[in-house]
Amino acid sequence: MCGIVGFVGHHQAAPILLDGLSKLEYRGYDSAGLAVRDGEADPVLVKAKGRLQILSDKTDGGKTVVGSCGVGHTRWATHGEPSENNAHPHCSDDHNVVGVHNGIIENYQELKEKLVRNGYSFYSDTDTEVAIKMVDYYYKKYKMGPIDALAKTMVRVRGSYALAVMFKEYPGEIYAARKDSPMIIGVTNGESYLASDVPAVLKYTRDVYYIGNLEMARLTEGKAEFYDLNGDQIEKPLVEIKWDAEAAEKGGYEHFMMKEIHEQPKAVLDTINSMIRYKDEVGEDGTKISGKAFIDLASIGITDEIIRGIHQIHIVACGSAYHVGMAAQYVIEDLARIPVRVELGSEFRYRSLLLDPNDLVVVISQSGETADSLAALREAKDKGVRTLAIVNVVGSSIAREADHVFYTLAGPEIAVATTKGYLTQLVACYILGIQCGIVKGQIPDDKAAELIQELNTLPGKISKILDDKERIQWFAAKFASARDIFFIGRGLDYAICMEGSLKMKEISYVHSEAYAAGELKHGTISLIEEGTLVIGVLTQKALFEKTMSNLVETGSRGAYLANVTTYGNYSVEDSTDFTIYVPKTDEHFAATLAVIPLQLLGYYVACARGLDVDKPRNLAKSVTVE
Ligand code: G6P
Repeated sequence: MCGIVGFVGHHQAAPILLDGLSKLEYRGYDSAGLAVRDGEADPVLVKAKGRLQILSDKTDGGKTVVGSCGVGHTRWATHGEPSENNAHPHCSDDHNVVGVHNGIIENYQELKEKLVRNGYSFYSDTDTEVAIKMVDYYYKKYKMGPIDALAKTMVRVRGSYALAVMFKEYPGEIYAARKDSPMIIGVTNGESYLASDVPAVLKYTRDVYYIGNLEMARLTEGKAEFYDLNGDQIEKPLVEIKWDAEAAEKGGYEHFMMKEIHEQPKAVLDTINSMIRYKDEVGEDGTKISGKAFIDLASIGITDEIIRGIHQIHIVACGSAYHVGMAAQYVIEDLARIPVRVELGSEFRYRSLLLDPNDLVVVISQSGETADSLAALREAKDKGVRTLAIVNVVGSSIAREADHVFYTLAGPEIAVATTKGYLTQLVACYILGIQCGIVKGQIPDDKAAELIQELNTLPGKISKILDDKERIQWFAAKFASARDIFFIGRGLDYAICMEGSLKMKEISYVHSEAYAAGELKHGTISLIEEGTLVIGVLTQKALFEKTMSNLVETGSRGAYLANVTTYGNYSVEDSTDFTIYVPKTDEHFAATLAVIPLQLLGYYVACARGLDVDKPRNLAKSVTVE
């Protein structure tokens, strides 16, 4: 996790570093620090435990730290507790090398022992201090300059890193190295920036370089040079970021999460539009059909021939993206009759995989940087299996390494709990499922047209649900002090429950569980007490009565019964206490609508409990460690 920034230019660095870090706080927020150099002087290091605001207060918004070259860090602790001592930047004892790091150095114990044998001592519990001192060691041993010292360190270190360091003898310069952890470099008139993610630099420049794996960079005022592991200079294209800085601001909402919930209609529409084309056709009876919609996956290189050859699909993902996979499994199997397996990234990579060359591995990830998902992707590629990434962040590691990339067009997502990322991933899976169904001869023409038309109605239907959010706010206030909440459903509704339950627990800290409704009776029902909130999700007609009777069973044991169902199912009101209706849609697409009230419920319960919705404790948005 963690977020890193760097700046060198004509302005004071500290306020710019603090501003950049404030855009990266979603990556970690248990301590922060910065190191700034004024000309040739030694760097000034300031660190603080807790939120970035504490560091900002300590430095009067950065004003008390003078200098125009520096690096900064916001931390999500992995090695060593959150403390000022463990906070970055870390430095060698003589301040020769000072730097910040995002990632994990796996063999840091072994490297530490080597350094101790060579006279080094350590003041923190972090793997980063070891990495910085390793750089210092090679710098002094070989006396061949910063790039050489970094390259030698990179060869010795196992793990992942985005590293930004300053060397005493190179004032006005920042050196960077990267493997598996994200990092971009931005340049503009006389100034250079470095960050873990685009929002941190967007206010200053839209021109960025994506530094590749096992590559290094040297930043000077307004210039960036890149090097490979041999120390040879390499060229990189400058990429223009299309979305503007406002997209990464709260825009009047109290929290990013609420803003992002409201951006869902547009995000879904944009994602659908990216793959739907229109053409004029002549029907069998000779009549002209104008503007017939069809799915075109040519831009991502998924041809009909590829689809025809697919025997099985493996969806691999983590967190909410895994829940997308669970929903997609029902949808794709039903529409295309292709067997689909869904696996957690962290499990997939450590299993003896039975992958066939005719399989397709689909990795779903908002950030495109989740370490377990990335490792799973590599595993699949090593086995020679075709990979498709469904990713939101352009240029992220998973996007770059997959054979095919379907970009969800959600725009930047800042709140730790995903909403629009999840929804757009679902839509991408629907599009994939429909196209597979068409090509595999499972979906006739008229049905395909109907499904595509229905997809286009989803943004409007999402907006309609959002219009009625005050009712959910009222309901959330009533259950703000709940101890346990259960979400139950069958089939696709169970997949929706999983996401609803995760939204609830991750931001409100209320214990919640998603359960396949039919499984309740095998143990979990013993947890139901007088007043326990049980929420049934009932969008699938064929499963409606079964789930309803499971819900009522919990009611007869004292549970308070709520449910999310579609308009028209008014009979639910006879047996449950509170109902949230969502518009009707094709049942395959139900998750897109039914999840919205559950997102809102989690959000409002967290607000009613006075919690920091955008930055829940112990979590980070982008999990770049195993
Ligand atoms: C973290 C986030 C989740 C997200 C998961 C996977 O745990 O808090 O919201 O679903 O990572 O992230 P990815 O970027 O791979 O979708």
